Amino acid sequence: MILTTKDTKYSWIKIADNEADIDFNANGFAEADIGIRKVCLIKIGDEIKACSALCPHAGASLLKNGSIDHQGNITCCVHNYSYNIHSGRDRLNEGYYLKIFPVLQNDQGVFVGI
Ligand code: FES
Repeated sequence: MILTTKDTKYSWIKIADNEADIDFNANGFAEADIGIRKVCLIKIGDEIKACSALCPHAGASLLKNGSIDHQGNITCCVHNYSYNIHSGRDRLNEGYYLKIFPVLQNDQGVFVGI
């Protein structure tokens, strides 16, 4: 489903009717299919963030290998690269960039913007 909003910057893809329908794992990660690709959903407090499902370093699944720390850094345990959840940049400034997607939650559902 593509939601039409006044925000024409993104097309909003509905991924769930509500947050309770998302099956987050013990690390607070879940995966969703937005048609052109899969995204990784991350539960941080009351917020849901979304990023590419694969680590930009060597392509490992963040659903299986990701964790998030209290500063909002996503770490992939395969080679321990970390990415800022807001900027997507790797913390060592080696040029790896994790694609971050906007998330919209309202009474119509949970949406990822592309
Ligand atoms: S594949 Fe994720 S850190 Fe290397």
